[in-house]
Amino acid sequence: MIQKYVYGTPFETDAVLGQWVPGSGEPAFGTVDLSEGFRFTYSMAEEDIVYGLGEANRGINKRGYRYVSNCTDEPNHTEEKLSLYAAHNFIVVAGEKPFGLFFDYPASLTFDIGYTRSDLLTVFCQGKDLNLYVIDGDTPYSIVRQFRKAIGRSYIPPKFAFGYGQSRWGYRTMKDFRGVVQGYRANHIPLDMVYMDIDYMQDYKDFTVNGENFPDFPAFVREMGEQNIHLVPIIDAGVKVEEGYPVYEEGVKNNFFCKRADGSDFVAVVWPGRTHFPDFLNPEARAWFGEKYRFLLDQGIEGFWNDMNEPAIFFTPESKAEQQQDPMPEIGAFSIPDVPVEEPENMDYQRFYHNVGGSMIRHDRVHNLYGYNMTRAAGEGFDRLTPDRRILMFSRASYIGAHRYGGVWTGDNCSWWSHLLLNLKMLPSLNMCGFLYVGADLGGFGQNTTRDLLLRWLALGVFTPLMRNHSILGSRRQECYQFEHPEDFRHVIGVRYRLLPYLYSEYMKAALRDEMMFRPLAFDFPDDPMAAQVEDQLMLGGEVMITPVYTQNAAGRYVYLPEKMLFVKFLPDGTVSEEVLSAGHHYVAVALNEVPMFIRKGKCIPLAQFAESVAEVDSEHLTLLGCEGAEYVLYDDDGVHKDYENPAHFRTLRKE
Ligand code: NOJ
Repeated sequence: MIQKYVYGTPFETDAVLGQWVPGSGEPAFGTVDLSEGFRFTYSMAEEDIVYGLGEANRGINKRGYRYVSNCTDEPNHTEEKLSLYAAHNFIVVAGEKPFGLFFDYPASLTFDIGYTRSDLLTVFCQGKDLNLYVIDGDTPYSIVRQFRKAIGRSYIPPKFAFGYGQSRWGYRTMKDFRGVVQGYRANHIPLDMVYMDIDYMQDYKDFTVNGENFPDFPAFVREMGEQNIHLVPIIDAGVKVEEGYPVYEEGVKNNFFCKRADGSDFVAVVWPGRTHFPDFLNPEARAWFGEKYRFLLDQGIEGFWNDMNEPAIFFTPESKAEQQQDPMPEIGAFSIPDVPVEEPENMDYQRFYHNVGGSMIRHDRVHNLYGYNMTRAAGEGFDRLTPDRRILMFSRASYIGAHRYGGVWTGDNCSWWSHLLLNLKMLPSLNMCGFLYVGADLGGFGQNTTRDLLLRWLALGVFTPLMRNHSILGSRRQECYQFEHPEDFRHVIGVRYRLLPYLYSEYMKAALRDEMMFRPLAFDFPDDPMAAQVEDQLMLGGEVMITPVYTQNAAGRYVYLPEKMLFVKFLPDGTVSEEVLSAGHHYVAVALNEVPMFIRKGKCIPLAQFAESVAEVDSEHLTLLGCEGAEYVLYDDDGVHKDYENPAHFRTLRKE
């Protein structure tokens, strides 16, 4: 059951759908204190586990640290960081009597989950206006399902978006893109997408293409399409200030940009130099920006990624002036400052306003809704522009609600082994909050990757709906064909294509039934106390458990099996090894060019032949891997249209 509690006059975020009759009095779990801002407190039992928070730092069990929901352009995801790009304010307290909490609040919100006092969960913010949803149910998973139903169906991308994609900041010309495609195709390493980072644009202007580098862009998109390659351009939040640039001029003329207190258009410096921020909270501005994607759709583009939409600001004229006024310390008067423990407030977020139904709302009061509403602008735009066809969309910043319009990637990670593990830990938390089309920059964005890290990371990435290798300008080249023995990459990525019918089917079931594609082991084995401890394995769909290797130089790893399972390894010669392992702890050997996973007792999964693109995967001739006599219900459709509910999309396969 879901109970809604209303405090003050909340800002309507549209995260939760439908009308909910508010409850009165104290919430069924915890207490609320409104004397100084809003403060929710709950006394945790020693064994309580706290799940959730979507794209947040640290473990699957969030207990023992604090987290601040405050969408931040944070390029360095080290362990002490309190805020990343997203604000996903949903948690589940799993204990004797499990319950879920969604704090529907659009500004900065702190979750202290046993950090200040190990037995206290406190959630607090400065404002007093918010909706709190309290959900109870028999199990953590039943609570998640109720929440997911309340926030509406998760975004469904086109099927090609389940292929593998190559990205890198710095691809500039057709030669660069052709080179990438040639590198993959010549080595027979599968590839479906090549991402276009900011350099495809003219002077970093949204909805432009550099005419010198792409003299006939539609022809180039077609040329790529003939090789089953989809080009996926980036769209940034900031619109360049430049006379004669139509997007800028229309935005100014119609008051579609965020304003300063004095009514002038707010200026922030980002990649293009001076920019204005579209006011995505204003429905008219949102409709206008959504319409702009037409420029690229009309040229054959079928997917986009939205970036810099926290929004990221390098500086503003105001912040620059303030910095210049800061006096330099006198020589001799220098003292070592205290190390700041709190992340500083971004003062620029207090300098601009949104027009919401005629009222001017200061940005910091609704900050976490900005990226969400940029994705919504795109999603609503696609619904109008291509009502029958799915368009690929994922974003960097997000709030719950954005999951209906697109997926997310988890931003600027690094080529670190710890970030491979962080990638895994975020998956179930993101699914709880509705985000199903998710993935991290495989191989790591910042720093220089290594061959072994990339291979191991890809062996996790083969299971994540968004499977994209992306890296920063100036780092070591990270395309798979740049490394020795490209056949190992061919094989590992090839496993993705062999598993595609299964992964797509499980994705679609999760989306259509408000379920999680990735779950902590404890969700499936609630009576096994050991399962609740596992932070480096996940249940995937109804049949599989994934156990990636995430340490350098490891020849394998320890795994925990809550029940007897089939250990499966995809071997480099294209065969699959199968071994039944008993419940308990095991060490399993996994070579660098192998992909490990487990199949649950009594289950089987479909397997396709190797293919180099999604279009070439033969979903008709599938073999079944797993238990004799087991059945698998496969979902399949054309991956393009939106008739998801058609029962003809389901068929039952049986392993003889
Ligand atoms: C920041 C994004 O997180 C990154 O993926 C991208 O490469 C750069 N912006 C440049 O556009």
